[in-house]
Amino acid sequence: MEIIRTVEWMKQSSRTAEAAGRVIGFVPTMGALHEGHLSLIRAAKQQCSPVAVSIFVNPKQFGVGEDFEKYPRAFEADRAQLENLGVDYLFAPDAPAIYPPEFRSAVRVEGLSEKWEGRARPGHFQGVTTIVLKLFEIVRPRFAYFGRKDAQQARIIRQMVSDLNLDCEIVVCPIVHEADGLAMSSRNAYLSAAERRAATILHRALAAMRGEIERGARACAPLLETFRAAIASEPLAKLDYVEIVDADSFEPLQFLRNDCLVLVAARFGATRLIDNMLVRILPKDGERREECIISL
Ligand code: PAF
Repeated sequence: MEIIRTVEWMKQSSRTAEAAGRVIGFVPTMGALHEGHLSLIRAAKQQCSPVAVSIFVNPKQFGVGEDFEKYPRAFEADRAQLENLGVDYLFAPDAPAIYPPEFRSAVRVEGLSEKWEGRARPGHFQGVTTIVLKLFEIVRPRFAYFGRKDAQQARIIRQMVSDLNLDCEIVVCPIVHEADGLAMSSRNAYLSAAERRAATILHRALAAMRGEIERGARACAPLLETFRAAIASEPLAKLDYVEIVDADSFEPLQFLRNDCLVLVAARFGATRLIDNMLVRILPKDGERREECIISL
């Protein structure tokens, strides 16, 4: 695996691969890699060669008072895992290489970036789309891989790719959970043992909602009420928001239909976690009964 620190070297490597007709797969990360990231890399390896992974803790996507300084950094452990997986390029630039003093641009996907996570974290998605567009331009991937745990991020990046006619296909991979159901996140490392146990309420409450939907519940308000009550039963959990939205527009729904997402964000002590569940309602079609497919 080549460890690449400069933009010029990464561009040269990707242009050479592209000119040779190779299909570049790309997994952008902020490091502190866990199984969720590794699942993206495995997906990339199945479809592409070469595979590039970036590690860059992007200051522009952290708000004032957020966890930029304390965000976990584990370069050596990450490097070893990437080597084991057979990654071809590890692109790990430093901040001045990406944002030199004269840097002035920003990329914003309007509408989708201001709601839910965008409302809780003003400027966050602008920071994400700015860095992802820069990385796409440097790495020139044919396919780029994102986790569904950050469902709004994945939707916004898809929109950016479509709006800006980028030659890159966005692949969204399933959420990976710990054995007790907690969705994997680099931020889980911040949780105390008690908060870590409490945080499983997110998955338990989503799983309970799945049961209700499978039994035929379609109205969103009662589903959300039950969910809020479940979170309120956990003293260490402080719900930020829970909503059922259309998976394309991210607008709230009154009744489940087509592709919907149940979005949730909650705090456990100082740590803010997000999770979601994808619900696909396939309408009744002739003899076929209505079907629902739910992915936690
Ligand atoms: O999902 C992340 O880890 C980050 O938002 C990303 C896509 C690497 C951009 O910094």
